[in-house]
Amino acid sequence: MGGYQFLLCIKLLKILNLPRMRVYEVATFYTMFMRKPTGKYHVQICTTTPCWLRGSDEILEAIKKNLKLEVGETSKDMLWTLSEVECLGACVNAPMVQINDDYYEDLTVEATNEILDELKSGGKPAPGPRSGRFAAEPIGEPTSLKSEPLGPGVGVRADL
Ligand code: FES
Repeated sequence: MGGYQFLLCIKLLKILNLPRMRVYEVATFYTMFMRKPTGKYHVQICTTTPCWLRGSDEILEAIKKNLKLEVGETSKDMLWTLSEVECLGACVNAPMVQINDDYYEDLTVEATNEILDELKSGGKPAPGPRSGRFAAEPIGEPTSLKSEPLGPGVGVRADL
């Protein structure tokens, strides 16, 4: 929800004669509710443990440097907003960022700068992993679940 939708909710509350706190308590709990207008591109970087272990600190620094923004800021031209968020559910492809509706995964500093630079030049970078994998399959050869699964009942007590 963008900042404008939040203002619409406030107007709706007035019409319904409800306290503003009803919107505020929801809007401050969920990070997807934006209480201020955001830029055209909302860059949300995940820094939760799996992404952090895979280098989200370096990705965040690259974004800050590229966009000349700090976390929580929106550029004066209203093109960019940078947010630091909790897990976005793509941990297996960490580190990752969400920009508007798209996920960019398996990021490196170079890949992150390429994505931002392409957006700056009006392009639409392809979302998804930047490691060459299709989705969330293992990088390289599988290390588990390599044989046919055993039939039902394997390892279960005979009397069950
Ligand atoms: S920890 Fe970053 S997507 Fe889950």
